[in-house]
Amino acid sequence: MTFKFLGFAGSLRKNSYNRAALRAAQGLTPPEAALEIYDLASIPLYNDDIREKGYPPEVQDFRDKITAADAIVMATPEYNYSISGILKNAIDWASRPPGPPLQKKPVAIIGATQGLWGTVKAQFHLRQMCVFLDLWPLNKPEVLIAQAQNKFDAAGNLTDEMTKKVIAELMTNLVTWTKKVSG
Ligand SMILES: Cc1cc2nc3c(=O)[nH]c(=O)nc-3n(C[C@H](O)[C@H](O)[C@H](O)COP(=O)(O)O)c2cc1C
Repeated sequence: MTFKFLGFAGSLRKNSYNRAALRAAQGLTPPEAALEIYDLASIPLYNDDIREKGYPPEVQDFRDKITAADAIVMATPEYNYSISGILKNAIDWASRPPGPPLQKKPVAIIGATQGLWGTVKAQFHLRQMCVFLDLWPLNKPEVLIAQAQNKFDAAGNLTDEMTKKVIAELMTNLVTWTKKVSG
């Protein structure tokens, strides 16, 4: 059986390093799984009045994809020492009933920044959210991509060997973790 992984990045920038890191993760996923990348560009701002009337089609599609996935991969930038509003907004939509789709899913976290600290503070906030969401994050390895501008080429390909190694380890661990929780 091939596991279905769904990945999304908290940046809408065309040349986003987080989107590029997800593409790298796609190529480094072991054959037991396939990583589909979901673009958050179409997700509207969360509004509980709208939710009460029914999820907008774009949001329903996102929620259905999460439900169908065996595990999730989130790539987060760090915005003002936390995750981006783009990612938080998507998580908020996916955290509401029925379901909620994000509950009890294995999740792997990646983060890339042009700064020095590799999104460590943003990832800590994201892990804190996993408690309330009842998401099951992998603890190790931590994928903290600092100074991303030196680790990808102009076309967005990951060129740093150490980063490739740690992402490959993360994706291998995600397969093992998914087997454990789905077994
Ligand atoms: C609103 C905003 C806030 C930011 N705050 C941080 C920060 O707290 N820590 C950090 O390392 N980088 C910060 N940055 C720089 C981002 O890490 C950098 O722009 C990175 O490339 C964003 O990810 P992306 O390439 O996937 O778009 C910030 C950028 C923006 C636009």
